[in-house]
Amino acid sequence: MLTGAGVSAESGVPTFRGPGGLWRSYRPEDLASPEAFASDPVLVWRWYSWRRDLVSRCVPNAAHEAIAAWSRRTSTPVITQNVDGLHSLALGRPGDPDVDPIELHGSLFGVRCTACRDEKEDRTLELVPDGADRNPESLPRCECGGLLRPAVVWFGEALDEAKLARCHEIVAGCSVCLVVGTSSLVYPAAGLPKVAQATGATIIEVNVTETPLTPISDKSLRGPASSVIPALLDDGNTSKGQGS
Ligand code: OAD
Repeated sequence: MLTGAGVSAESGVPTFRGPGGLWRSYRPEDLASPEAFASDPVLVWRWYSWRRDLVSRCVPNAAHEAIAAWSRRTSTPVITQNVDGLHSLALGRPGDPDVDPIELHGSLFGVRCTACRDEKEDRTLELVPDGADRNPESLPRCECGGLLRPAVVWFGEALDEAKLARCHEIVAGCSVCLVVGTSSLVYPAAGLPKVAQATGATIIEVNVTETPLTPISDKSLRGPASSVIPALLDDGNTSKGQGS
């Protein structure tokens, strides 16, 4: 199971590319790249503060809940590109590596020190409001004094190799690969269903629109994730070891 921003759309989290999507009003390279952070860390932190604030008021929807139940039932983690933490919230944070979502692009609630590289979750971080002065001294700092950055993957950065290897292992071992609410444009995540297909898996896409994955999918289910996914997974269509 691979998910993208569409699975959280009905929780009120804006997608990246759809109408009202996050990249409609911003250029990704101005906000989500190491270069952007180096040249204007206040702007970048404001954007992440705004997203942290927005997401912290959102709750999992019926699709997250059905996916969490499926994960528990099959002991298979969902692979997600989302940084909103809603899959984890739906699971109730069991701290179980067989079930905990693999957040390929990191987490909005994680921070990493740009100096010592220490990474941790920090939901209490003081937000950087829109009116914040432009002095980087006002930005969140690590105990070592280094500037903290969001622990998300930015454009031009590599994904965590161990996480990606685990994803390859999961998709290469599945017989059905469900791909939910992603535009299938951003690699390497968009390549995972192709890995599954190459090893004989059936690809089922759930999306409100067509994507580049649609023509190679075995089945396309058109509709919002919160109604399609519970109907699909609650039918018991997947059992241990079969789906991903
Ligand atoms: P996108 O915003 O690119 O795509 C969201 C997809 O969800 C679209 O194909 C929509 O049609 C679909 N969608 C919208 N509402 C839906 C609903 N209710 N039910 C089902 N589908 C729905 O988001 P992603 O594909 O997740 O990466 O974007 C991939 C990556 O691009 C993100 O993780 C982010 C971004 O740049 C980084 O920031 C590294």
